[in-house]
Amino acid sequence: MRNCLFYICFLGLWVRRGVILVLMFLAFLTSVTSGHAAKSYPNCIICHERMHRPELKKNLHPVIQTSGCPSCHTYAHMEKSPNPKFLLTTGTDLCWTCHAQEQFFQKVTHPPVSGGECQRCHDVHSSDGSNLLVTSLPGLCFSCHDQESFTGRKQHPPAAEGNCTACHDPHSSPIDKLLARPLLETCFFCHERAKILEGTKVHGPVQSGMCASCHEPHSGGNDKLLTERVPELCYRCHGNPGFMRNIEHPPFGKGECLSCHDAHRSNNEKLLVAARPELCFRCHGDTDFKGEYKHAPLMTEGCAACHDTHASTSPRLLKKGCLDCHPTPHAGTTVQAVVIDPEKTGPVFSECMGCHNPHTSNFGKLFREGNTTDSGEQQGFLDERPADSVEEEVQ
Ligand code: HEC
Ligand code: HEC
Ligand code: HEC
Ligand code: HEC
Ligand code: HEC
Ligand code: HEC
Ligand code: HEC
Ligand code: HEC
Ligand code: HEC
Ligand code: HEC
Ligand code: HEC
Ligand code: HEC
Ligand code: HEC
Ligand code: HEC
Repeated sequence: MRNCLFYICFLGLWVRRGVILVLMFLAFLTSVTSGHAAKSYPNCIICHERMHRPELKKNLHPVIQTSGCPSCHTYAHMEKSPNPKFLLTTGTDLCWTCHAQEQFFQKVTHPPVSGGECQRCHDVHSSDGSNLLVTSLPGLCFSCHDQESFTGRKQHPPAAEGNCTACHDPHSSPIDKLLARPLLETCFFCHERAKILEGTKVHGPVQSGMCASCHEPHSGGNDKLLTERVPELCYRCHGNPGFMRNIEHPPFGKGECLSCHDAHRSNNEKLLVAARPELCFRCHGDTDFKGEYKHAPLMTEGCAACHDTHASTSPRLLKKGCLDCHPTPHAGTTVQAVVIDPEKTGPVFSECMGCHNPHTSNFGKLFREGNTTDSGEQQGFLDERPADSVEEEVQ
């Protein structure tokens, strides 16, 4: 009985094999008559197109069209193979018979590639999409990678659209993170180079192509895809430039670094968005600076001679007071206008302001307008001095 069953099964298999062989012969005849004898591909397709996997999809592996199925399989069913599925070789060795292996094993190799798992991403025979992909991007990538870092509040269009290969090589690359090109070139593939890199001064991290130290390449919670918000972003490398100084310039205190600095490049020193003093006049009136007589340091060192731009320990953001440059004002003159408290710390200035303007003036000695008569004579403080010295002054 057992023997009987065995023979029936054997017969069944043999018949099935026979049927395939007979059909193959017929298929061969068909292809000869239709002029495709040179290509064994139609032979196979006759049975495998509809009846068996793979159901061939829209786009065939190009080699099937040119050299047919036997470029990878033996002349199946009629010719034996030591490998499963009548394959000529196993694993990725098969692919390397036609594709350049070294392209797939550069400095950084994608783990599924080094693991020989081409078929996690490709169908060797055919696919409805391009490049024989089993699923379209980015779904394919998300079958292994966490989708979360791509779905932040702000999304970078190429990543959101699944155009991962605009920046990454899916197989291998000489550059970290499988980048298809060096980072700078990656970004300038789409963004205008001049807007970011052209200027007499380029910000250090921009110059060295560290775009990703400030921008998320895929998505993030902050505007402009910033990895952190300004000013925290800046503090990461610079520390707080106003550290330990309690009196803050309002735009600095509010973290509006970008109202004065360009994050990428500039034609002005210190990456300023405009040259000084025009930068200051974007927010401050310039009338105080238009006087005929200009205080010397204003002309030589500019605003920074006296003011800290970020923060200071002194009112009016002063870093230098009058006495720092004029230690003994009025020496050799009869003016005894001010008595400076020797205990006073920090830059002294308010005592001098009653008579002088620190910036410019239409009157000599930087006198304030209020100290001048209609005929142009200085008055006020002069009245408090001895009559003879007043006469000398007026002369
Ligand atoms: C007459 C129909 C027919 C033709 C023509 C035909 N096959 Fe098949 N092929 C089959 C059938 C039926 C099976 C399933 C057999 C089985 O399950 O053992 C099969 C199975 C296969 C398998 C899978 C074997 C395995 O171990 O799983 C491969 C590979 C294959 N065929 C390749 C080819 C190639 C290459 C050609 C052309 C040279 C070809 N076939 C021509 C009918 C055909
Ligand atoms: C570029 C190489 C290549 C070409 C060309 C090729 N195959 Fe294959 N084929 C393979 C590989 C590799 C496998 C094994 C897939 C696997 O292990 O899942 C395979 C498996 C198969 C199988 C078995 C499918 C299964 O699910 O077990 C059939 C049937 C088959 N091929 C038919 C064909 C036919 C028909 C052609 C021509 C139209 C063809 N192949 C052309 C590489 C190729
Ligand atoms: C017998 C030669 C041969 C073998 C073996 C072979 N290929 Fe190809 N393959 C080609 C040719 C030729 C092309 C078209 C030119 C090109 O893109 O290099 C191609 C193109 C491709 C493409 C791009 C398809 C497209 O639509 O542009 C993929 C993906 C691919 N092969 C994957 C594989 C994988 C995976 C293997 C191993 C399982 C493999 N190939 C084995 C010859 C082969
Ligand atoms: C993680 C998924 C993935 C794996 C694994 C993978 N590929 Fe690809 N492959 C792709 C994608 C995506 C493309 C399309 C690239 C493009 O659009 O520029 C591609 C394109 C190709 C191409 C055609 C374009 C080219 O670069 O020449 C070939 C050939 C190819 N792959 C072969 C292979 C081989 C061989 C393996 C296994 C050693 C493999 N791939 C493993 C995703 C993968
Ligand atoms: C605009 C260019 C760009 C696009 C588009 C892009 N990436 Fe990236 N990707 C990068 C850069 C740059 C890095 C490196 C970031 C770094 O060094 O911190 C990276 C890193 C990665 C990493 C490694 C993450 C890590 O923390 O190490 C993965 C995984 C990744 N990308 C997958 C993808 C996928 C999937 C897509 C498509 C949905 C994609 N990328 C689209 C530029 C891009
Ligand atoms: C079969 C699983 C798998 C698929 C599919 C896959 N990856 Fe990966 N990928 C990995 C593994 C594993 C790593 C290494 C661990 C990690 O960084 O998560 C990796 C790492 C990466 C890296 C970082 C490489 C580095 O140098 O740190 C990038 C970039 C990347 N993949 C991009 C992609 C893109 C783009 C796709 C879609 C085309 C994709 N991956 C599809 C498994 C996969
Ligand atoms: C494939 C094209 C492409 C590549 C490559 C690319 N970008 Fe973009 N990027 C865009 C598009 C499209 C936008 C949206 C329109 C715009 O603002 O120009 C955008 C916008 C941005 C924005 C502004 C986001 C916002 O909220 O306004 C930043 C920042 C950015 N990209 C940085 C980068 C960096 C850094 C790189 C290199 C890692 C890069 N991009 C590479 C296409 C690209
Ligand atoms: C030091 C941090 C930093 C670096 C490094 C950096 N960026 Fe930016 N980037 C910023 C900031 C901050 C903004 C927002 C500017 C604004 O809102 O005025 C920005 C804005 C952008 C924008 C949007 C421009 C716009 O007008 O909307 C693009 C595109 C961009 N950066 C690309 C790049 C590229 C490409 C690189 C690398 C070459 C790079 N960034 C390097 C900080 C940086
Ligand atoms: C009101 C305009 C203004 C604002 C707002 C501002 N800066 Fe500045 N920053 C300047 C000026 C002007 C200089 C040049 C100072 C000098 O010449 O002494 C400067 C210089 C710098 C320098 C270079 C310091 C050095 O010693 O070379 C750094 C770094 C800097 N700023 C960072 C920042 C950061 C971070 C913020 C935001 C928290 C910020 N700035 C806000 C105007 C500003
Ligand atoms: C990834 C680190 C990094 C980040 C983040 C960063 N910087 Fe810088 N920054 C540098 C380095 C390094 C230098 C010195 C090289 C140079 O002169 O560009 C520098 C220099 C500067 C200078 C002085 C330029 C000069 O001409 O002397 C200013 C101003 C400046 N950064 C402002 C900022 C502002 C504002 C931010 C935030 C939007 C910021 N930086 C974020 C690294 C960084
Ligand atoms: C020689 C030192 C000195 C220079 C140089 C200088 N300042 Fe001043 N600035 C002062 C002093 C002192 C005060 C305080 C005046 C007062 O309290 O009446 C002051 C006050 C100010 C104020 C506050 C005005 C107010 O009425 O509250 C602004 C704004 C200002 N300066 C801007 C600038 C700008 C812009 C520049 C460069 C174009 C500049 N300063 C150059 C010393 C200077
Ligand atoms: C983005 C706008 C903005 C820019 C640019 C700007 N300031 Fe101011 N500044 C302010 C605001 C707002 C105040 C507080 C209100 C006021 O006193 O006018 C202020 C106040 C001051 C004060 C008085 C501080 C106090 O303690 O009373 C000085 C001094 C000053 N700025 C100097 C400068 C100098 C020097 C520059 C150029 C390097 C400059 N500012 C650029 C917005 C700005
Ligand atoms: C950074 C140094 C510096 C600071 C701070 C400074 N000055 Fe001057 N001042 C000068 C120089 C340099 C001159 C021109 C040479 C001279 O007369 O000593 C000058 C000239 C003057 C003159 C004479 C102008 C003329 O037309 O002859 C007066 C008045 C004056 N300063 C008042 C002040 C007052 C008030 C303060 C404080 C608000 C002050 N200075 C702060 C450097 C400074
Ligand atoms: C009561 C009015 C008054 C006050 C307050 C005053 N000055 Fe004067 N200052 C004068 C007069 C008047 C002259 C002209 C004296 C001369 O040229 O003989 C003068 C001249 C100057 C000069 C130019 C001549 C010189 O001595 O170098 C400087 C600098 C100066 N003052 C600095 C200061 C400083 C600093 C303060 C605050 C500590 C101050 N002044 C406060 C009235 C005043």
